[in-house]
Amino acid sequence: MKPVIEIKEIKKTYHVGEIQVHALRGVDLTVNSGEFIAIMGASGSGKSTLMNLIGCLDEPTSGRYYLDGIDVSSMPRDEYANIRNQKIGFVFQGFNLLPRTTALENVELPLFYDRTHRIKNHQQAARDALEIVGLGHRLTSVPNQLSGGQQQRVAIARALVNKPSIILADEPTGNLDSHTSVEVMSVFQELNDQGITIILVTHEEDISTYAKRIVEMRDGRIRKDHPVEQRLDAKTVLATLKEDADDEAN
Ligand SMILES: Nc1ncnc2c1ncn2[C@@H]1O[C@H](COP(=O)(O)OP(=O)(O)OP(=O)(O)O)[C@@H](O)[C@H]1O
Ligand SMILES: [Mg+2]
Repeated sequence: MKPVIEIKEIKKTYHVGEIQVHALRGVDLTVNSGEFIAIMGASGSGKSTLMNLIGCLDEPTSGRYYLDGIDVSSMPRDEYANIRNQKIGFVFQGFNLLPRTTALENVELPLFYDRTHRIKNHQQAARDALEIVGLGHRLTSVPNQLSGGQQQRVAIARALVNKPSIILADEPTGNLDSHTSVEVMSVFQELNDQGITIILVTHEEDISTYAKRIVEMRDGRIRKDHPVEQRLDAKTVLATLKEDADDEAN
């Protein structure tokens, strides 16, 4: 299988005044198409730094990065941005939706920045993406009319609208209660079943068991990398939670 992401000996050093912060001290990572990876590790271990490099939001200090076989580490910045728009969708902990802007408009937004103009009908593409995350009935709601989980699903729809092959999510369930977190993981599992490669950062052990592979970081290095042994299926977990709630109600 051809890797979608190949990272070789990546280092990232931040300069803060006189101080050098070695955020990544040499990371090798290969990700194949269709994988679902949870990145774990203590605060400050370099998870977001790695995600920003994978997402072409930042450049490494040294090392090589091949995205779909293309060496992006030696690419000029504007080409970098194009590649990013075409191949990668982002989901963040804080949803990052525009307030006073409808779900539909929030999801359409990335298409305005897509200089390749691959997608002609923006509104239809945004509707389709919201349909996929189960929000086809809330197109005109603004963020403060939606629950946290619904807002995160709008953010996932926004990540999907460019039809990316990879979705990167940094602590996507960090602001959500446990039930809503499972709902969001169910959306990610569904997208992964459809072939989208997913990489997410989480602090929560139970969230990581919805992934297929866990990469553990410490002090700017990958310390462990292993498959998930007893993977949870979010739909099954949600059904069980619902049964429990129904039992309690009776
Ligand atoms: N823009 C920056 N400038 C300077 N130092 C930074 C910058 N971003 C991150 N760092 C430092 O790099 C190291 C790794 O940070 P990073 O944000 O990747 O950690 P993390 O694993 O995502 O942590 P958390 O779980 O708290 O989000 C930390 O020591 C951090 O202080
Ligand atoms: Mg982080």
